[in-house]
Amino acid sequence: MIAPADKESITRAAVLLREGKLVAFPTETVYGLGGDATSDKAVAAIYAAKGRPQFNPLIIHAAEPHALDDFIEWNETARLLAAQLWPGPITLVLPRKKSCPVSLLASAGMDTLAVRIPSHPIAQQLLKEVGRPIAAPSANASGKLSPTTPVHVAESLGDKVDMILAGGKSAVGLESTVVDLVSSKPRILRPGGITREQLEKLLGSIDIASGSETPLAPGMLPSHYAPDLPLRMNADAAAADEALLTFGPDAFVKGGATRRNLSKAGDLEEAAANLFAMLRQLDQGKFRAIAVMPIPETGLGAAINDRLRRAQTR
Ligand code: TXA
Ligand code: MG
Repeated sequence: MIAPADKESITRAAVLLREGKLVAFPTETVYGLGGDATSDKAVAAIYAAKGRPQFNPLIIHAAEPHALDDFIEWNETARLLAAQLWPGPITLVLPRKKSCPVSLLASAGMDTLAVRIPSHPIAQQLLKEVGRPIAAPSANASGKLSPTTPVHVAESLGDKVDMILAGGKSAVGLESTVVDLVSSKPRILRPGGITREQLEKLLGSIDIASGSETPLAPGMLPSHYAPDLPLRMNADAAAADEALLTFGPDAFVKGGATRRNLSKAGDLEEAAANLFAMLRQLDQGKFRAIAVMPIPETGLGAAINDRLRRAQTR
């Protein structure tokens, strides 16, 4: 069921998607569980495969910004961010056009639509061949860790997906940054692969939606991205029965039945790319909990800590 993403299997995947089937495919952030966004049936199948609460809307993917013209109302900020940051790990939430052909189920009945142009070459080829908007949440069971390899997808969704296109390890490793461009001032709804600092360079200041507001995004739910084991952040040492996730030089950190290092060099991009895979490796019943060393809150650290906080909440 895992197919190496050569020309032939990309074409087969495009055919499956046009038939309303589900295909998991690589993106630079995490693997997506794709379905034809214009088909209510395909979108319903995505929710069913993930076990996802249906009020959580999906991101619509296309090969290039122009392909979104029939779906959303562009504004000046959206054009600027699209020109500067697409294709790439950022999702824009915009008003949905009245005539938008995307299934209402995909946007959970809201009058807005979240759209993204991924940069991964296999995602690009696939989206071009399908020629339709593709709804794609992360290809994992709802609330669980996001997949950054084809094997993660197979472990999480098994035969609930008709095909898994294999395209190696996701380079960014964290989901896209979701930015609300409907409100009068742009707001980050979910921190992710594009940092607040990058956005502030382009837009001046930008707000971050606080956790106390009504969650517009499931990524904003207090508990999400969760391993099965309890998780403990900002650990300066680990117990003998805890698995330990470290960052930077870790020789001085005591304890831990086993440990993984997100980035020995203390590089936040490397750490983001390793986060979900390493959490999976440590999420084993033989340990009592996962202890995680402090991660700086700057740059991609904000998104890493956001995922860890939600994994810690249960
Ligand atoms: O990197 C990513 O964004 C990956 C890859 C596959 O593209 N996709 C992803 O999808 O993370 P998902 O469904 O796991 O997360 C989508 C996020 C959720 O937090 C959802 O609530 C939010 O986007 N979202 C979708 N439509 C929205 C809307 N109309 N308004 C506000 N938030 C929305
Ligand atoms: Mg997700």
